[in-house]
Amino acid sequence: MEKLFKHKRDDIEEATKFKISIIGDMGTGKTCLSLRFVKDLFTDAHKATISDIETKGLEIQGNRVVFQIWDTAGQERFRSLLPLYMKGIDGALVVYDVTDKVTYDNLNGWVKEIRKYAETNTAIMVVGNKIDLPEDRKQVTAAEAESWCKSHDILFYESSAKTGENVDKLFLSLGEEMLRKIKQKPSRYVYSDSISMSIEKERKCC
Ligand code: GTP
Repeated sequence: MEKLFKHKRDDIEEATKFKISIIGDMGTGKTCLSLRFVKDLFTDAHKATISDIETKGLEIQGNRVVFQIWDTAGQERFRSLLPLYMKGIDGALVVYDVTDKVTYDNLNGWVKEIRKYAETNTAIMVVGNKIDLPEDRKQVTAAEAESWCKSHDILFYESSAKTGENVDKLFLSLGEEMLRKIKQKPSRYVYSDSISMSIEKERKCC
């Protein structure tokens, strides 16, 4: 991971802000991935998420960026919130559990939702999580998932939120892809307000 910066006002004002939504089936590890990346924490507990936002500032290829990460609900009954989660996103992580084939089979549906509600230049990455679990429990191979992603023009990583394997790398790679894409459309990305105020506004409007 390249150098991090603290959330000081001067840094934030010059930073490029990226909204990222983490979506995917319930229990695949979306909250754990966000917490591992932002706070370097992991918990074995599973508490169903409705919606949560974490922020983290970092430097990628000499650019200061702020990731605003929307951790979303995997539960079917919250599916009506998807348009909100997709609104104005620059990147999406679509998470499946490598030990649960159903969560992989549902990727197509999640990607369709992104393409329906998000802008066309949104960076999309599929993440096969829980690779720390024993080989004999795995139901999806990396080769199979990688090939599917390639055919859909989507980035792919496997990860473990539990051990931290590949977590920083995948967020960094998504950041690089988002930076590449904004070169086509740069104007709306400079951060002009404090993070807390910005999040407060979004919370109020939802
Ligand atoms: P919803 O909010 O219900 O959609 O779930 P989620 O996708 O946010 O899943 P969450 O992060 O809460 O994790 C679900 C369960 O999987 C928890 O018991 C976690 O401890 C566990 N878990 C998450 N990531 C990993 C991982 O990389 N390895 C292992 N072994 N367990 C994990």
